[in-house]
Amino acid sequence: MTPEVNVSGSLRNRLVVILTGGAALLAIILYVVVRILAAQIAQQGQDNILNASMSSILDTAVLQDGRVALDFPYSSLSMLTTGADDRVYYAIYEDETLLSGYDWLVSPRDLASDGTHFESTTFADDPLRVATGSRTLIGPDGPRNVFVSIAQTQDALSDTLNASTRNVALLGLGFFVMSSAVAIWAASTTSGQMRRLATSVTRRGPQDLSPVAKPVPTEMAPLVGSLNTFMSRLDHTLTQSEDFIAEAAHRIRTPLATVRSHAEATLQRVERTENRKSLQAMVRAIDESSRAAGQLLDHAMVTFRAENLERSEVDLADLLDELVLRMTPVAEMNDITLTTKLDRPAMLLGDAILLQNALRNLIDNALKYAPAETDVIVKVTNAPTLTVSVSDEGPGFADDEIETLSGRFVRGKNMGNKVGSGLGLTIAQEVAAAHGGTMSLTNKPEGGACVTLSF
Ligand SMILES: Nc1ncnc2c1ncn2[C@@H]1O[C@H](COP(=O)(O)OP(=O)(O)O)[C@@H](O)[C@H]1O
Ligand SMILES: [Mg+2]
Repeated sequence: MTPEVNVSGSLRNRLVVILTGGAALLAIILYVVVRILAAQIAQQGQDNILNASMSSILDTAVLQDGRVALDFPYSSLSMLTTGADDRVYYAIYEDETLLSGYDWLVSPRDLASDGTHFESTTFADDPLRVATGSRTLIGPDGPRNVFVSIAQTQDALSDTLNASTRNVALLGLGFFVMSSAVAIWAASTTSGQMRRLATSVTRRGPQDLSPVAKPVPTEMAPLVGSLNTFMSRLDHTLTQSEDFIAEAAHRIRTPLATVRSHAEATLQRVERTENRKSLQAMVRAIDESSRAAGQLLDHAMVTFRAENLERSEVDLADLLDELVLRMTPVAEMNDITLTTKLDRPAMLLGDAILLQNALRNLIDNALKYAPAETDVIVKVTNAPTLTVSVSDEGPGFADDEIETLSGRFVRGKNMGNKVGSGLGLTIAQEVAAAHGGTMSLTNKPEGGACVTLSF
């Protein structure tokens, strides 16, 4: 039975979300920054070419017969050729008079006096980049300012930009995918540490309260530290309470025996039926109590020894021979035939006292719950596995109880008025578990209970 745990999300998922979210944000920033840089570089390239073209035209400006004359060198236009067939426009001014070209391009009034000027405009919905430069020619009638503007559409530029945008997007996506993979891996390894600790604690037997010795990461040290302290306190408390139960049971048993002998003696002397009846009930109650005290004592002993198993080579066949011999008088008193079917040798590395205690409880049950004139069979097999079974011809276990009967103080509905405390099967089960074995309760097809310990 695992107690309910309040769960609020998963650390691993939270880590994955935070890390992949961060990676996505970084990828977007990377995309935006690289795109802006690429646009700047591409623009710079176009500006350089426009500047070269404009300067080469401006260089040809001369004064002829008092008039400004200009030439378009072949290279000034050929350098502007692009794969996207961009259109080129120009404007030439002398001071504020348009000599040739398109007057909408730029007005020389906007020009800075230092010469070159770049700007972006649009013409017929097409984005344009314009480079303007000026030159002063000194003529006989004073200085004359010549302005040349060269403009180019930006189709090739946006093609290049689109291509690089696609590449940058792919780069960002790749970056995101790789960082997400790293994030998932990092989150899994981190939470793996915790899972490993959890598994190592879960996998322990219920009796194992030893501290966690495995090295753990610093962040988990406080948790593991508290867990260890908690377990050692629990261990201490458990030992104390087992000691207490054993001591209490021992102290109760002795006076009970005295009371019982007094009651029996009185029973001999009393003649009135109702007095005899109540004395008999008293003796029975005393039997119940002293048996319960005995079982408690046995159980405390089993719990204690199971933790510090004193292992030695035990032959279960020999052990049962002796046990059956001792219990035969009880069987005879109940008119039951106690027989053995023993494979020899049946060697087990275990605690003889515990094993004897467990088997005594099983035989005791069989003798108690089976009716008179039936057989109880104690059987040992040594192959393929070592098993001991005690079977009888009694009523067997109720099907709906079979899972729970080995619990502490649990008694079945077939208990009738039989003296008992509900600890016999518990003891047998704990002894089997302490030896790495299991106990199973079954009903034989022909009727009767069968309890098997497998090692
Ligand atoms: N051989 C058996 N035949 C039928 N029922 C049994 C047998 N052994 C045990 N039981 C059932 O299992 C219950 C638990 O057994 P146990 O733990 O030994 O307690 P107790 O013997 O004190 O009743 C019993 O109360 C009884 O109902
Ligand atoms: Mg019993």
